Amino acid sequence: MAKKLPKLPKTVRGKDYIETRDWTDKDIELLLETSGDLKKAFKSGKSTRYLPDKTVFLFFFDKSTRTRNSFEAGATQLGAHAHFISAETSQVAHGESPKDMGIILSSYGHAIAIRHDLVPGEGNSYMREVAEHATVPVFNMQCDIDHPFQTLADLMTIREEFGKNLKGRKIAVTWAYAPSYAKPMSVPQGLITLMPRFGLDVVLAHPPEWKLMKEPMAFARKMAKEHGTRFDVTQDMDEACKGADIIYAKSWGIEELFHKPQDALELSKKYTSWICDERRMKLAKKRAIYMHCLPADRNNEVSDAVLDGPQSRVFPEAENRLHTCKAVMALTM
Ligand code: CP
Repeated sequence: MAKKLPKLPKTVRGKDYIETRDWTDKDIELLLETSGDLKKAFKSGKSTRYLPDKTVFLFFFDKSTRTRNSFEAGATQLGAHAHFISAETSQVAHGESPKDMGIILSSYGHAIAIRHDLVPGEGNSYMREVAEHATVPVFNMQCDIDHPFQTLADLMTIREEFGKNLKGRKIAVTWAYAPSYAKPMSVPQGLITLMPRFGLDVVLAHPPEWKLMKEPMAFARKMAKEHGTRFDVTQDMDEACKGADIIYAKSWGIEELFHKPQDALELSKKYTSWICDERRMKLAKKRAIYMHCLPADRNNEVSDAVLDGPQSRVFPEAENRLHTCKAVMALTM
């Protein structure tokens, strides 16, 4: 007979996970603890079928490798089914409303996860509208404002490296050059709003044109003030990297130019020197680590030597996406 699963608390059952700011520090701690337990169980081959016969809908307006596959594999490990829906091949392409999607999918399954990240001003409000009419939890698989599954996995990875007490440690969240496409702003925004709550001093670096949205910037300042941490901004990548414990260097787009990607790309050519290479890693602390949510533009955002080198934690970081998404599903669905 299968062994009984350890009981999970019911405190966040039914709760949406749209931005980390919607969750208290205590609830984020619960997510991290559960992620760690699920990771240990997975590594030791123990069953974690907390959600038998349940369905999570994965509704994508954009491409994905890690998010889609961590949800699909994670749902299987929890005994559930993850059902993929592409916006292009659903009636949303003909204008079906978020309200109707929320009502109908709620009647078929147990959670609705959405990725809608490429148009500033649209994704977050779309998923909040679905959530208003859904009777099951709604998850943000990345929007224009936040990428809460990514930053939860990032915090888990940082704690695995440096321990739970991060007071006095510094993370450099810095823009880097990428010619591939205008990447969403949600990862840096998610990092600057979450990390000051958990002890990290944050330094944000970007060229003058690559400002983040006003509201997440204001929230990051507020969180740093309330939690006794720092939030500084610079236009000098070297300055940000100096003395850092973590360098999180990645590209993002310009809020006003997401509909004119060629213009943004042209402008970015002035800043090809914004790369995380071995010289920049040497500016950081000796034990510093490099992080990136991936996919990375190799040898543009980050050199191969750094990405594949001993200080890189990008693969454990990607691996943790599996366990953090399982924790959110197991606790809320
Ligand atoms: N980091 C991340 O969200 O990866 P995908 O875009 O591949 O899902």
